Amino acid sequence: MDFADRVERVEPSATLAISNKASALAADGVDVVDLSVGEPDFDTPENVVEAGKEAMDAGHTGYTTSNGIPELRDAIAEYLQEDCGLHYERENLIVTPGGKQALFETFQSLVDGVDGRSRSASGTSSRSGDEVVLLDPAWVSYEAMVKLSNGSVSRVDTAQHDFRLEPALDDLEATVSDETELLVVNSPGNPHGAVYSAAALEGVRDLAVEHDVTVISDEIYREITYGVDPVSLGTLDGMAERTVTINGFSKAYSMTGWRLGYVAAPEELIDQAGKLHSHSVSCAVNFVQHAGVEAIRNTDDAVAEMAEAFEERRDMLVDLLADHGVDVAVPDGAFYMMLPVDEDCAALEEQRIGDGDTVDTAWCEGAIEDAHVATVPGSAFGTPSYARISYANSKERLREAVDRLVEEGYL
Ligand SMILES: Cc1ncc(COP(=O)(O)O)c(C=O)c1O
Repeated sequence: MDFADRVERVEPSATLAISNKASALAADGVDVVDLSVGEPDFDTPENVVEAGKEAMDAGHTGYTTSNGIPELRDAIAEYLQEDCGLHYERENLIVTPGGKQALFETFQSLVDGVDGRSRSASGTSSRSGDEVVLLDPAWVSYEAMVKLSNGSVSRVDTAQHDFRLEPALDDLEATVSDETELLVVNSPGNPHGAVYSAAALEGVRDLAVEHDVTVISDEIYREITYGVDPVSLGTLDGMAERTVTINGFSKAYSMTGWRLGYVAAPEELIDQAGKLHSHSVSCAVNFVQHAGVEAIRNTDDAVAEMAEAFEERRDMLVDLLADHGVDVAVPDGAFYMMLPVDEDCAALEEQRIGDGDTVDTAWCEGAIEDAHVATVPGSAFGTPSYARISYANSKERLREAVDRLVEEGYL
């Protein structure tokens, strides 16, 4: 078969190698502490599960309006107004099967390749499509989605500033130009857990307005923060008309497998993305949308409990790592932290880092083989000297993971 350029450009998820290894070890009976997962380890709140069952029993099993049932779009609009200060109407929303699909439709609607130049005479891709700027470390799927839209990626590093955006604004200014189509902001962020300050976001706003850039504000972790109030980019002066707010139910309400998310944006984008939506997924699952209304309206206590549990684990993990001489940038949100890794650790001194291996991939592969602790190499997110730890796991397992990493010389 002759495959399309755009799929051949995309690599399989770099996290796959680790999860395949973890599964293979587990299948052999090995007890792996899996800190590579990007999902809360809590059950979906019971009232949400009940609402889903009731909706099924009530016969909500057919297609819905493509952009989502009005009750859910209204509930989302109310949430965005009351909790985030964002003003969107029902017409500004598409309900999608997960935040990922919301992002995919947004990239596909806004990012173009350059006609006739996407394949050079030699048959290799020239990668000259619309420019999308990412803030590194950036969640793995952004780059893949840009490539699938035939766009090109420019990256601005925040790792050198402990993942804070404000000190990286000069670099961002040097990168964003009139040629930039799109900028992606993810706060609280995966994989670093940083929550960007109002001043940093104002810096983003100034650049976006100056260069007429659309900004995706991926706020999927906004319910999981520790003592800080995340600012929604679309609330800043001049941003409502150029912000695409992405959110979803996976992380806030522990509903990863239900697949529910949304795009909130000016109607002109909703009209375009709505075409992709109707010709691809048709609509999000009917009874899941009904459960989503319950999740948005009646889960404040459950959401607060989960966020509190994540905060306790974060604190414990930061302290445990500090006890072993490892300082991490303390995350203010999400359930990830970036662990700095280098060749100096005892385990890697003995182990050859193979040709083409970065230190983080060698560290992560070693950690899973020797200590049976699964983490994700930072290079998957554009920052090779880190491993991402997800602390969506019990305190006991987190302690066990640190003990094993110390014992095997990885910390
Ligand atoms: C930053 C970020 N955005 C979006 C998503 C998409 O989540 P979902 O499709 O489950 O809503 C994820 C999932 O890991 C994520 O980490």
